[in-house]
Amino acid sequence: MVEQSIWMQKVAADPGHSSWYINRMRGLAEAGTDLAGEARMIDAMAERGSRVLDAGCGPGRVGGWLASVGHDVVGVDVDPALIEAAKEDHPGPRWVVGDLAELDLAAHGITEPFDLIVCAGNVMTFLAPSTRGAVLKRFREHLSPEGRVAVGFGTGRGYEPDEFFADVEKAGLRTDLALSTWDLRPFREDSDFLVAVLSAG
Ligand SMILES: C[S@@+](CC[C@H](N)C(=O)[O-])C[C@H]1O[C@@H](n2cnc3c(N)ncnc32)[C@H](O)[C@@H]1O
Repeated sequence: MVEQSIWMQKVAADPGHSSWYINRMRGLAEAGTDLAGEARMIDAMAERGSRVLDAGCGPGRVGGWLASVGHDVVGVDVDPALIEAAKEDHPGPRWVVGDLAELDLAAHGITEPFDLIVCAGNVMTFLAPSTRGAVLKRFREHLSPEGRVAVGFGTGRGYEPDEFFADVEKAGLRTDLALSTWDLRPFREDSDFLVAVLSAG
């Protein structure tokens, strides 16, 4: 067992937290808000039909869009209520309940590595801090030799970029690109968001 994620600590403290988040995403989708910014960047990084892992997929916002344009998507999230919503709202991908710190998709019969792993929406800052390194190692283990990982999270939320870059190296990954947005603006010292593109080190 690993330390419980910050997200599930929130759910334990407030059982309505998951449905609040699901309803928020559904409301934004119904209002026609563009929710596919991250997914469009991922789509530009590989051919259609690529194997994509949506790590910390929540109710399926990113992976659902990627599957709709033809990628082969697996989504993993620790919150069972969010995975139920992903199955309902975005049928098609394989949606799996699990903690990323213990990610072992072979145990679910999913044995092929991924061309792309996307970890969007501040997932890194909702992990238990003690598990961040383990999560990056699991990404490395599930990545194909030429595969890449794109991770985005807010700085100033308890996981500073320098610590993250050091954990990336320790996990056997390499930072190829540091951006501050999913529409490809460069990362600077004072950026309040990091989008890192990683590959096998
Ligand atoms: C703000 S939501 C983002 C959801 C989705 N990535 C998106 O951008 O729409 C953060 C997500 O991280 C997930 N999460 C946090 N810790 C996790 C862990 N250890 N393993 C798997 N998922 C985790 C939460 O359950 C939640 O769905």
